[in-house]
Amino acid sequence: MSGNTYGKLFCTTSFGESHGPAIGCVVDGCPPGLELSEADIQPDLDRRRPGTSKYVTQRKEADRVEILSGVYEGKTTGTPIALLIRNTDQRSYDYEKIKDLFRPGHADYTYAKKYGHRDPRGGGRSSARETAVRVAAGAIARKYLRVSVGIEIRGWCAQVGRMALMHGFDAPSWAAVRSNPFFCPEPDRVPELEAYIDQLRREGDSVGARISVIAGPVPLGLGEPVFDRLDADLAHGLMSINAVKAVEIGDGFAVIEQRGSEGRDEMIPGRFLSNHSGGIAGGISTGQDIYCSIAIKPTSSITTPARTVDVNGQPAEIRTTGRHDPCVGIRATPIVEAMVALVLIDHWLRFRAQCGDVETPRVLSN
Ligand SMILES: Cc1cc2nc3c(=O)[nH]c(=O)nc-3n(C[C@H](O)[C@H](O)[C@H](O)COP(=O)(O)O)c2cc1C
Repeated sequence: MSGNTYGKLFCTTSFGESHGPAIGCVVDGCPPGLELSEADIQPDLDRRRPGTSKYVTQRKEADRVEILSGVYEGKTTGTPIALLIRNTDQRSYDYEKIKDLFRPGHADYTYAKKYGHRDPRGGGRSSARETAVRVAAGAIARKYLRVSVGIEIRGWCAQVGRMALMHGFDAPSWAAVRSNPFFCPEPDRVPELEAYIDQLRREGDSVGARISVIAGPVPLGLGEPVFDRLDADLAHGLMSINAVKAVEIGDGFAVIEQRGSEGRDEMIPGRFLSNHSGGIAGGISTGQDIYCSIAIKPTSSITTPARTVDVNGQPAEIRTTGRHDPCVGIRATPIVEAMVALVLIDHWLRFRAQCGDVETPRVLSN
């Protein structure tokens, strides 16, 4: 199974299964001299961690990260940084009953048919447990981008099912987003959100979500013509997160109804007049903030029975018990932020490598 490495200069190779002894990654290409310890990574893992409220899966993973290499006397050495997160709360018996059934909406069927031999426990390699690894690698990228380039990457939950929560890209209050486990920008609506999720749970159902991210200030010049456009790489990175079914950059699908007269980002001396394009033109960052959103599908493992087939192709019914997220979007914000960081650091290093000698342009502001 290949396809486990992301990035050209800042390369993250992820490994591990949901119910194996550990998951982890090797980050190769991190610039030397970055002050780094577990304390820089752990807070992001804690934000993604399961079991933090009754509205996420009750799997209780400590998600403690260990740095095994690449750091000496508190600073990165430029050598590969190996990160390890041990699995501590696996319950394989939850999966014993359904190991011969293909769970609809999961990777069971495709993995079984493609590879012929798979680890069914908790989805094995396809489990969203893998996203902890990106959050860990992304925390290194975020720190570098913050201290060396000045970029902050922040996300929020913009919609849960039919409940729209601060749509659009007017930056929410980050203190408000941090104040609740839903990453909800409107804390006074958290009780409404809780009631909505409680009701879904009672009905044995789940719902999807939208997560939005703003990154900025991003220097002009990140992104390459033509296949490695920054927007193309963001879409690739974000779409590689489990359960993500759509990525929008800037106005995204809203451009369908837009007219050219409103959608192009006009310029006057010193600044842009709008940012419909999400800070990217021709695949290259404009110097404006980068705006992107993802749509994440509803949790497939719910208690409402569903039709499926077994490994012999026979009809069967499946009803998933065990510990699941009623809305996988609730824990997704740190994952989306991490993936944006992994894309931006890779493009920053590529930009510096090729255009490091080009005089820094005077750019228009947002
Ligand atoms: C943070 C996060 C948590 C998730 N938790 C669950 C879960 O508890 N139950 C479930 O059925 N799917 C969960 N998923 C979604 C599955 O991992 C995903 O749907 C499955 O691997 C199939 O991949 P696909 O949806 O990308 O096709 C989660 C996804 C994310 C990002």
